[in-house]
Amino acid sequence: MTNTLRFGIVGCGVIGSIHAQAIASLPGAQLVAVADIIPENAQKLASKYGVRAYTNLQEMLDRETLEVVNLCTPSGYHKEQTCLVMRSGRHVIVEKPVEITLPAIDEMLRVQQETGVKLAVISQHRFDPATQQVHELVEEQAFGRLVLGNVLVPWWRSQAYYDSGAWRGTWALDGGGVLMNQSIHSIDLLQWLMGPVKSLCAYTGRLAHRMETEDVAVAVLRFANGALGTIAATTGAYPGVTTRIEVFGDKGSAIIENDNLAYLHLARDDKEEVGAYGAGPKDSKKDDDTGATATDPAALSIRGHALQIADMIRAIREDGTPLVDGRAARHPVEVILGIYESARTHQEVVLS
Ligand SMILES: NC(=O)c1ccc[n+]([C@@H]2O[C@H](COP(=O)([O-])OP(=O)(O)OC[C@H]3O[C@@H](n4cnc5c(N)ncnc54)[C@H](O)[C@@H]3O)[C@@H](O)[C@H]2O)c1
Repeated sequence: MTNTLRFGIVGCGVIGSIHAQAIASLPGAQLVAVADIIPENAQKLASKYGVRAYTNLQEMLDRETLEVVNLCTPSGYHKEQTCLVMRSGRHVIVEKPVEITLPAIDEMLRVQQETGVKLAVISQHRFDPATQQVHELVEEQAFGRLVLGNVLVPWWRSQAYYDSGAWRGTWALDGGGVLMNQSIHSIDLLQWLMGPVKSLCAYTGRLAHRMETEDVAVAVLRFANGALGTIAATTGAYPGVTTRIEVFGDKGSAIIENDNLAYLHLARDDKEEVGAYGAGPKDSKKDDDTGATATDPAALSIRGHALQIADMIRAIREDGTPLVDGRAARHPVEVILGIYESARTHQEVVLS
């Protein structure tokens, strides 16, 4: 293997261009080709980076020497394209959600095992310093007994956003609405920090947009470790407000707001125990990230994607496992599909 890994991108829309920027920012990576079924989309991105453009994924695979292919196409195409690329012997980085049904994900996991290539699934906020810090503290059991974990995603997407791609807000290709597309990031973090979800009850609605899928959802959760939790999410909260992830335990609490650690208090750092009624609020610990994706889907920073692609390069070089592999990426999709089932059946859903 050469020192520099050669990358191809499939899907040159909103997120495809973030992948191109992220690859270009990494010393061990080189973008060599891009593909999109819309020739102008492929050509535009190809010209920007001086690489070859294709309108057909198979043709790109046949003609190019590539080690890694990044799939940035509508979610309902991920299984078909990931399996095609893996069978060609290339490693895959696929965008979230890994796929929109569990049988499709299981097929991807099977082909990954069969071919022995690496499969990474984008969940870029796992690489945020705040998330990493809270995860390390969870591993150290610094929060004590985890009791409550919450996610709040009060985002805004206009009708024009949903109308900007025929696949958006459809069951067949988006696989859902605010949960499967936008909130999957926070739901992935919640279950990474709190542990697996065991059962849930939920409501969903479509109140502020013309689309097939939900634009508002609430769920109550019971985690495998006995802790409880909630998910509340919408793309109908104008103009888009702070995303919150909260982890509460009997020896400490943490709150992440828009990817930053807004609150952290651990019993182990207290000089004296807080009284019977607890401590008052502490100062915020904000840095300069604005959380702009709450209002504008294209206002993404490349930082998380670059870190995750670097993690994949490490996994390939060391023959290790990427932090978010196909198996890890299955969990948040299972939770989201459980929420849809509970909302539909008005029953509690127990996850496997
Ligand atoms: N990680 C994140 O923060 C993030 C943000 C946005 C989107 N996404 C994910 O990225 C994926 C794409 O979303 P987007 O917002 O970039 O969509 P988009 O509509 O802006 O871009 C999709 C591109 O794929 C092309 N395409 C469609 N079918 C194709 C095919 N069969 N072969 C090749 N190209 C094809 C389209 O022409 C379009 O250019 C989705 O899975 C979405 O969930 C992730």
